[in-house]
Amino acid sequence: MNDRTSPQDLRERRLVEEVVASFGATADPRVRTVLTALVEHLHAFLREVRLTQGEWQQAIDFLTAAGHITDDKRQEFILLSDVLGASMQTIIINDDPTGAATEATVVGPFFLDDAPLVPLGGDISFGASGEPCWVEGTVTDTSGRPLAGARLEVWEADDDGRYDVQYPDGRVAARGRLFTDADGGYRFWAVTPTPYPIPDDGPVGALLAATGRSPMRAPHLHFMASHEGMRTLATHIFVAGDDLGSDSVFGIRESLVVDFPRHAGDEPTPDGRQVTGSWTRARFDITLSPAS
Ligand code: BEZ
Ligand code: FE
Repeated sequence: MNDRTSPQDLRERRLVEEVVASFGATADPRVRTVLTALVEHLHAFLREVRLTQGEWQQAIDFLTAAGHITDDKRQEFILLSDVLGASMQTIIINDDPTGAATEATVVGPFFLDDAPLVPLGGDISFGASGEPCWVEGTVTDTSGRPLAGARLEVWEADDDGRYDVQYPDGRVAARGRLFTDADGGYRFWAVTPTPYPIPDDGPVGALLAATGRSPMRAPHLHFMASHEGMRTLATHIFVAGDDLGSDSVFGIRESLVVDFPRHAGDEPTPDGRQVTGSWTRARFDITLSPAS
């Protein structure tokens, strides 16, 4: 570390001051606050690790590769934010501080806002491979009042670990939109979530490999719940069990870990549907907080 009175230290600190001062005329105070803190922390990092010019070039090459692999189906910058814990930290900072609402977790890059409408009790798998899974629950506000007509978006990977947007033929599967009934209830068939790797054939995968980290996500089913006057919630449920050991994007919250009991194919299903082989079921009651 530098002596704080050395000419070298002085030169480095003067540069930080100069850059911060360059934002002095920023009209929006929030933009000024964010950019000032960004520059101060960025320079503190550069100075702390004594970044070499070769390492700086490596960082530029990394970001350039992330840009090149990003398109309307692949978002490497979200992945980068996710594996560095920045997505989850931003969610925690902005989550309902009272703890009365269901906890939020990462959205990930596979949400689509035009998922097919599925009737209550319908099947969101649309042919995606996997063990059938019955999912049910309610949506209420923080005082327990049922929220009728709440919109639920649900999406998941198939049991090969792929989301439909990763299929080569562009078909839609393992996602749907539902609306809760008059009692705030919902129910649908899906497939039992299984572990899968985040896309790791790009620069973020190289970063994980270089640091000895696994690209695997704990098995989960995504939910986005919204209702007029309520804060929109993006979350998952995780399957309780052995695969919960780690999650490459730091998304596991204990309150979101749910039992998925397994039933034999000859046991009656909740809606009388005939299934071949085993099936599972899960219950997830969602609490939304007010929008303000
Ligand atoms: C996902 O759960 O879909 C996901 C989250 C973060 C990165 C990649 C995928
Ligand atoms: Fe996912």
